[in-house]
Amino acid sequence: MSEPKYNKDSMKNVLVVSLLVCLVCSIVVSSAAVFLKPQRMANKDLDRNKNILEAAGLYDKASGVSVDIAAEFEKFEIRVVDLQDKRVLSDIEAIDLGIDARTYDQRKAAKDPAVSKVLETSEDIASISRRARYSVVYLLREDDDIKKIVIPVHGYGLWSTMYGFIALDGDMNTVSGITFYEHGETAGLGGEVDNPAWKAQWSGKTIYNDDGVALKVIKGFASADSPQFNYQIDGLSGATLTSRGVQNLVSYWMGDDAFGPILDDFRG
Ligand SMILES: Cc1cc2nc3c(=O)[nH]c(=O)nc-3n(C[C@H](O)[C@H](O)[C@H](O)COP(=O)(O)O)c2cc1C
Repeated sequence: MSEPKYNKDSMKNVLVVSLLVCLVCSIVVSSAAVFLKPQRMANKDLDRNKNILEAAGLYDKASGVSVDIAAEFEKFEIRVVDLQDKRVLSDIEAIDLGIDARTYDQRKAAKDPAVSKVLETSEDIASISRRARYSVVYLLREDDDIKKIVIPVHGYGLWSTMYGFIALDGDMNTVSGITFYEHGETAGLGGEVDNPAWKAQWSGKTIYNDDGVALKVIKGFASADSPQFNYQIDGLSGATLTSRGVQNLVSYWMGDDAFGPILDDFRG
């Protein structure tokens, strides 16, 4: 009687080989994720810094001109502000609170009940639910005068929370630029918040009038003939909800519960 032939295509072999392949692949993928984490974090920081520079008009990705991001970023003075007490902290006060302005994670702080505030529905214009008590701002000085201030902002669009920066000139009222470094809006619709042409029209617009935050992202196009032109930004076509999200985040972060009083302070 002949020996039963070894069947390499048996169900058992197929399962063992599949499991081994899965195991090897998952080890490779998770090792790569662990080993590349520092690189990913560094790239994320670099991207944020590029956005800060771009908002302040010190870097223009579209121009193709290469800029030493680290060297340019060093020009900023990073200050910690207390949004609850509405004041800028001294470096010593920030250190006493355990805040290193260079590495402070405002998003993480916003989730910590000890250092964040739950926003009532009536004040939660940007739909962010809670905000950190402390934030950083980036100042660019010329001699002793503040030439630009870059402020981190975020708010809900249609699908996602959009994170970005708004830069103002030294008068703390004229917009220098806006950038978003993270959002999940639809490419070609809400994703047009990244469109350089749309962002370009923010430069020179005015945030405040005598009644408070006046800048609006309107539906349609801002007309140069309108007396409100300086306070108007074109809405994104086919993306009214994202446009409204941008409008709301400007209203909230430039308003009284956020940076409004801090900007008054700097203006003074
Ligand atoms: C697949 C899909 C993706 C969309 N993405 C967005 C978006 O990112 N932002 C947005 O405001 N509207 C988006 N919309 C459109 C909204 O549902 C809504 O119709 C629109 O905001 C209304 O804007 P309009 O009045 O300018 O047309 C999307 C619609 C579809 C079908």
